[in-house]
Amino acid sequence: MTHDKHLATSLDNGPEDAWVSVIQKMDEAYADLVRYQVEVEEKNLELEENKQFFDSIQSSMSDVLIVCDHSGYIQRVNRALEFLTGSVGESVIGTRFTDLVESRFLQKVDSFLNQIRIQPVRDCELELKGVDGPVPLSMNCSPRKNRRGRLVGMVLIGRPLGELQKAYIELNNTHAELKLAQERLVQSEKMASLGRLVAGVAHELNNPISFVYGNMHALQRYTARLSLYFDAINEGQSRESLKAMREALRLDKLIRDLNSLVDGTMEGADRVKEIVNDLRQFSSTQESEKKRFDLTHVIRTALHWIIKESKHPVEVRETVPDGLFAFGHSGQIHQVVVNLIQNAVDAMIDSHEKILTLNAEQVAGTIEFRVSDTGSGVSGENLSRLFDPFFTTKPVGQGTGLGLSISYGIVSEHGGKLEISNNPTGGAHALLVLPIEESPVV
Ligand SMILES: Nc1ncnc2c1ncn2[C@@H]1O[C@H](COP(=O)(O)OP(=O)(O)OP(=O)(O)O)[C@@H](O)[C@H]1O
Ligand SMILES: [Mg+2]
Repeated sequence: MTHDKHLATSLDNGPEDAWVSVIQKMDEAYADLVRYQVEVEEKNLELEENKQFFDSIQSSMSDVLIVCDHSGYIQRVNRALEFLTGSVGESVIGTRFTDLVESRFLQKVDSFLNQIRIQPVRDCELELKGVDGPVPLSMNCSPRKNRRGRLVGMVLIGRPLGELQKAYIELNNTHAELKLAQERLVQSEKMASLGRLVAGVAHELNNPISFVYGNMHALQRYTARLSLYFDAINEGQSRESLKAMREALRLDKLIRDLNSLVDGTMEGADRVKEIVNDLRQFSSTQESEKKRFDLTHVIRTALHWIIKESKHPVEVRETVPDGLFAFGHSGQIHQVVVNLIQNAVDAMIDSHEKILTLNAEQVAGTIEFRVSDTGSGVSGENLSRLFDPFFTTKPVGQGTGLGLSISYGIVSEHGGKLEISNNPTGGAHALLVLPIEESPVV
């Protein structure tokens, strides 16, 4: 039944019924209104909460947010814009986005609206006008679409470039500092191993120098005896007296000795020269370019010095053939070999049997050099840490823990390989592989 009919029926039944019906209708309408009001209030509350939620996200963003309509007029900005540029939020609403941009970037920005029809703009560097000068940003710009998918504007998000640049510069500086520190460490480790060797070298130099001295003293005495004899000849002394003098001064033996004295002195001088050369090669900070060098000589020199300096006797079993050549910096490889042999000798301090085995052989385009000891070996959990910088099991002051880490760097840079493992029969085993020729074949 429609309302009118209902009213007409009520009127037919008399005016009182009609009023009752009207009042009922009004009551129903009022109840509906109250219900709608409650619903609207609930919706309002929900909207308010959503708005607050989004506002709080926007204002906590450190990146600048600018929302524009399809003509580039600003509809919304966040607090980061105000914080970075000093432009007050409300004052920019309704102005053109381009008004915020430094003039030299206008051309870039003008094309944003067209560009985003094809694809979003990513990491476009530009500057916004700021109260204290231009504010560099890395800007992303994405299309904003309505429910039907039509473009209604754009959303710009700008990350302050100053921050990124600062972080980048800081990173760069830290990297440079680290590199410097690393170079210093490499150098100091080198000096430490050099220090260990210096005592050996001093001792080593003493030998040839002392026999050069001895020979020179003998030569001095011989010269005096020869001068006496020649003076007698000059004075025209008789043949018999000269003969007697020759016997008394033992000149025949002296002449026989002369050659060996000179040879011995030469040998001593050569030895001194060799030692100095080895030392110079090892201590130079700047190495010339890589070249083929006598690895056998490097191994033997290193072994010789370390064994000489070793505080406990070590049985050496060396089967390194003469004239094995490798390619690289001989000084650096010397440092590696010294460390491998020194580590092996150190590991045997407490061993009953101290046997150091060195062998080397050519395998294809490489030289394989092995150092094996009968020492403590390396425990399972330490095996993976051997090449870590500063990893050492030696008492403070006796090892920096840099030896293997630096050696590893040197060997990798040479295109070679360095491995440490345990011998099945006890002790450790180091394998060093080096290329023979320029192009690394390892
Ligand atoms: N042949 C070996 N046998 C047993 N342990 C070894 C052997 N070689 C190396 N190690 C272990 O590896 C550690 C690290 O060696 P690395 O040469 O790097 O440093 P280091 O010898 O302790 O000190 P540095 O070489 O700087 O004087 C040693 O402290 C030792 O514990
Ligand atoms: Mg070492």
